[in-house]
Amino acid sequence: MQEVNNFTPNIVAFCCNWCSYAGADLAGSSRLSYPANVKIIRVPCSCRVNPMFVLKAFQQGADGVILCGCHPGDCHYVTGNYYTRRRMSLLFSFLNYMGIEKERTRVEWVSAAEGAKFSEVMNDFVAKVTALGENKRLQDLRVKEE
Ligand code: FES
Repeated sequence: MQEVNNFTPNIVAFCCNWCSYAGADLAGSSRLSYPANVKIIRVPCSCRVNPMFVLKAFQQGADGVILCGCHPGDCHYVTGNYYTRRRMSLLFSFLNYMGIEKERTRVEWVSAAEGAKFSEVMNDFVAKVTALGENKRLQDLRVKEE
């Protein structure tokens, strides 16, 4: 786990079932490490991730949110990841405008054969979010632990 001044970021990773989740699985079975504070949520396709899910993650205390899906052209549902790409680029620029640094959000394409890439992406993402520190924007203070 990446820590700076005892800070361990909460990272939410939405992974599509057909590529990225399998990539995470491959990383695990290949003994490639990625930080334990990455909480993977398996979704059928990256386009299943409604922008509200990302907002809700930040509201519930996430410090970074990453979406991983199949490479463009490889989506199991043909065009799902094209929707993801457009939708999330709009959402992330909106979040940046609201004060959530763009390094706290990311979309990555990771195939089922890219366990090493999955591990690298997660390590890099966690390092960048750790350097930014805790996210205080959009947090619902009612869900904050004392
Ligand atoms: Fe993987 Fe659509 S099934 S992005």
